[in-house]
Amino acid sequence: MSSAEATVNNQSALESLRWNGQQLDLLDQRLLPEEIVYLPLETPVEVWEAIRHLKVRGAPAIGIAAAYGVYLGIRGVDGGVDALLAEVQKQADYLATSRPTAVNLFWALDRMRARAVALAAEGVSPAAFQAALLAEAQQIQAEDVETNRLIGEHALALFEDGFGVLTHCNAGGLATAKYGTALAPFYLAKEKGLNIKVFADETRPVLQGARLTAFELQQAGVDVTLICDNMAGAVMAKGWVQAVIVGTDRVAANGDVANKIGTYSVAVLAKAHGIPFYVACPLSTIDLNTPTGGDIPIEERHEDEITQGFGKRTAPEGVKVFNPAFDVTPNEYVTAIITEKGIVQAPYTENLRKLFE
Ligand code: MRU
Repeated sequence: MSSAEATVNNQSALESLRWNGQQLDLLDQRLLPEEIVYLPLETPVEVWEAIRHLKVRGAPAIGIAAAYGVYLGIRGVDGGVDALLAEVQKQADYLATSRPTAVNLFWALDRMRARAVALAAEGVSPAAFQAALLAEAQQIQAEDVETNRLIGEHALALFEDGFGVLTHCNAGGLATAKYGTALAPFYLAKEKGLNIKVFADETRPVLQGARLTAFELQQAGVDVTLICDNMAGAVMAKGWVQAVIVGTDRVAANGDVANKIGTYSVAVLAKAHGIPFYVACPLSTIDLNTPTGGDIPIEERHEDEITQGFGKRTAPEGVKVFNPAFDVTPNEYVTAIITEKGIVQAPYTENLRKLFE
């Protein structure tokens, strides 16, 4: 994609992605906070590439992008509904290879597949089939807005005016269709005139906390203070943090939580300081088919993110590197999981299952 094809928009509140009637306009999050550029995506290959290279990131946003990717893959296909259905399966299989950890990706693709199968069974026309799959992607996006608002309301009930709250990575509007999961209560607090002081970990190595969380909260007028990851303990020791809240890429059936690398360390620190550690997520992030955190596939990314992040070499050539993008926080560190259906506490195996009954 050449920059000449990209749209630059410096005005309205930032959306991670939007359907413009013809194509998916996707905010290139690699360029934030310096540049606000929307990339016009027209093919599943472009969507796959955007997910893999973190132009779009954050579990719900990845799922929404992939859903549109499926539609982009079938809109130009000639032939009957059987051919379209086969193409949906093919594109969904392909898009599922873009990243491994966030289960929302697979959830959204399964939802597109299920809709396609149902439409074929109904015997709709090819044009109606295509239109309905676009509508399904739009519906996934619209539902995410409402879901996150509910998560924010439940989470805000756990905070008091004047609280300091620490967060890690970016689980905000940029990681979702709107509001975010972990950041949703901060936006609602702002609307209600409550003063919450947010501490944002910068989140090595890709700096989602510095580039994205600090940026979107500052833009919204939320009181946010940026700290390096290795300052979280010091800030807690000062008594400035009354709660931690993070998002997640996948919650296992037993309540173990995969999230951005560094989350586990924050959870251990929170426990050591007697600070509650909350995880905010939609039901689509809870994977009852994955028994424990040890069963969650953890993505490993290129060593350049650590040795020459953002183009400057900061480690010796040839040094061995380990670069997992996520870690798993065992359920014993998780005070509660906040969903659109309410707040869940241990025993997680039993109580998470009840959410789906
Ligand atoms: O590698 P990323 O930026 O996609 O990782 C994102 C996170 O870890 C988020 O905390 C998680 O996806 C939740 S987003 C609501």
